Amino acid sequence: MSVLNGKNILLGVTGGIAAYKAAFLVRLLVKKGANVKVVMTSSAKEFVTPLTLSTLSKNEVYSSFTEENDANSFKEPKWNNHVDLALWADLFLIAPATANTLSKMANGACDNLLLACYLSAKCPVYYAPAMDLDMYVHPTTAATFKKLNSFGNIQIPAAFGELASGLVGQGRMAEPEEIVSFLEKDILSKLPLKGKKFLITAGPTYEAIDPVRFIGNHSSGKMGYAIAETAAGLGAEVVLISGPTALKLENDFVKIIHVTSTEEMYNSVHEYFGKSDVAILSAAVADYRPSEVASEKIKKKTDDLTLQLKKTKDILASLGEMKKNQFLVGFALETENEEENAKLKLKKKNLDLIVLNSLRDKGAGFKTDTNKITLIGKDNKTIPFPVKPKKEVAKDIIEYIIEQTNA
Ligand code: CTP
Repeated sequence: MSVLNGKNILLGVTGGIAAYKAAFLVRLLVKKGANVKVVMTSSAKEFVTPLTLSTLSKNEVYSSFTEENDANSFKEPKWNNHVDLALWADLFLIAPATANTLSKMANGACDNLLLACYLSAKCPVYYAPAMDLDMYVHPTTAATFKKLNSFGNIQIPAAFGELASGLVGQGRMAEPEEIVSFLEKDILSKLPLKGKKFLITAGPTYEAIDPVRFIGNHSSGKMGYAIAETAAGLGAEVVLISGPTALKLENDFVKIIHVTSTEEMYNSVHEYFGKSDVAILSAAVADYRPSEVASEKIKKKTDDLTLQLKKTKDILASLGEMKKNQFLVGFALETENEEENAKLKLKKKNLDLIVLNSLRDKGAGFKTDTNKITLIGKDNKTIPFPVKPKKEVAKDIIEYIIEQTNA
């Protein structure tokens, strides 16, 4: 899955011959899973039609401060709010960017909707220059690039090749594929968890009684999967060790290892822990397993059946004993004396953070799509959060870890 998946991209199209390539660009971005809206200058419309770009982006195309009505329409013109458009965007890409627009951007001119969006944008701005070779090497253009880059804008270098004038040199807009791969590489290189290795456990474990029965619990794995996806989305290399669940991962950057029993989870976790920077054990591990697993299906011969259980290995506690520089996170699911119990677990298992959920809280715990957590750090400081979707809870946990590990 591309890092552009789910991103809101505002594409600014200005009036150069390369504007026809904006159609390919929109298509590629949409294929990568991005939501694309287009804002174009009026001269760009000479080269590519708004209808083409709106059809490909599946969104309205914006060009002027007020919506243009056709001659037969008696509607009041609608105001196109440049601030809303700019704030909607996770990134603003201007491609092609003509010398004229770039110079206006560098000098704060604001005589069209695209420039108003640029001045209102808080997101990263990328621009792909497109102009003839003499214009590209002109000292004024060089000064414009320097000024724009000093503001934090990101230049996607123009390519060498034959230009519309017939001359050969630098100035041709980078090809749409190159622009998309430039964006992906640039975003990936700036992700906050780039280079960090995360080990995450999720789901229940099943402890076999006989070949057809097991002891398990109601954990769906949703919390652990959401944490894995969030960490991977922020650039971490993630190994997810999952007990039996019906869930599917959305992010192909997560390496998944399926296990069934606590023993298998223990072995897998130990295989990866040494190489990890952060370990988050969100699995609802079985605390006891049958002392003996019957080799054949147990027949119902008696009215009573007693199963002898044996404690499983505590995976989290074993990591707490051996950890070196790893940031170790455990979960505590409690029904009474929640904070006190969680703080005891934090200390006893030598954790850096414990995520407390109380089964007494509505919207928390197993199977739900929401959770209500309290984070308790090594300093014993408690941070309570309201009920939120598990994906947002995952963000809160990861943000806390980023804060603590960069401190
Ligand atoms: N855990 C583990 N291995 C086990 C049992 C639990 O790694 N055999 C981990 C869980 O993944 C969780 C944390 O320990 O991160 C706390 O689990 P919990 O069941 O709340 O606590 P326990 O330590 O098992 O204590 P108790 O069940 O007595 O509350």
